[in-house]
Amino acid sequence: MNIDEFEKLFDEILENVQKAISKSPPDKLVELKTKYLGRKGEIAKLMKSLGQLPKEDRPKAGKIANQTKAKIEKLFQSVKLQDKKSHAKSDYTLPGRNKIPGGNHPIRLIMREIIDIFYGMGFSVASGPEIETEYYNFDALNTPEDHPARDIQDTFYLGKKNYLLRTQTSPVQIRVMESRKPPVRVIIPGRCYRRDAIDPTHYYTFSQCEGLYVDKDVTLADLMGVLTAFAQKILGKNVRVRFRPHFFPFTEPSVEYDFSCPVCGGKGCRICKGTGWLEISGAGMVDPKVFENVGYDPEIYQGFAWGMGIERIAMVKYGIDDIRLLYENDLAFLEQF
Ligand code: DAH
Repeated sequence: MNIDEFEKLFDEILENVQKAISKSPPDKLVELKTKYLGRKGEIAKLMKSLGQLPKEDRPKAGKIANQTKAKIEKLFQSVKLQDKKSHAKSDYTLPGRNKIPGGNHPIRLIMREIIDIFYGMGFSVASGPEIETEYYNFDALNTPEDHPARDIQDTFYLGKKNYLLRTQTSPVQIRVMESRKPPVRVIIPGRCYRRDAIDPTHYYTFSQCEGLYVDKDVTLADLMGVLTAFAQKILGKNVRVRFRPHFFPFTEPSVEYDFSCPVCGGKGCRICKGTGWLEISGAGMVDPKVFENVGYDPEIYQGFAWGMGIERIAMVKYGIDDIRLLYENDLAFLEQF
């Protein structure tokens, strides 16, 4: 064989490939590619005959061979190779797979609304850890180890002594005050945990939104004004707020506050269990002892604080009658929001 014959063979093979590709059905192309470019394919075979050429022709022959091979590779690249197996697996008559777009959970929706409302009143948002120490969750909030208020807030204690899942968002009040000087105006939305028996209105995890306002000349009237403004923004203009005396270790005086039921207008219905009122949570004037714990001077500063249950508000706003629905991840329920 001489160099001209060698070149001719490569020209021929290129032509053959072009023809074969144009005639071949898509699912045969992979096979065809192996036939020409495979390790034992036509090109490889021809390359071997390079050894039969005179030494001085070999560099040129090598170049011809490589160029042709590159051209053939390009030809295969320009057509879409279809794997026989994948072709067999596809059934184009099957219905498509729907992608489920994500959505907002009703608790998230209410939290956003709450944040928006308080943001409009000049509050900023703070957050703290869900795994707390006993100090922040209880002691710093004026609730020492033997205090009966700890009983109703039993929780999950974690392996190491002194760690627990927070029972309220109130410990973040302490963290915030430790880290900044007055005036303070924050809300703290977040998840809490308690060892509660599960029923339509109780769950071992739930959400609260805490609020804290510290400045000079702050009174209970400010607390009542802020919470009333909030109630009317979130549940409508006609909602009334009722404050009842109560006890919390970290506020003095303390109140519990209720919103009039927006579903029945206060007449009494299934949602408010016939009372006309929805218990939202507790509030009060920050106890001087708490200020001392964080190094604020109670002679100079006063403050009010509150906590509210988010689920309660979500349930009323959306007409949900069982708290468990909010935590069971049932798509039929969640897709309604
Ligand atoms: N942390 C209380 C609870 O979960 C609610 C509460 C009461 C929060 C009074 C406050 C407050 O900030 O001042 O029962």
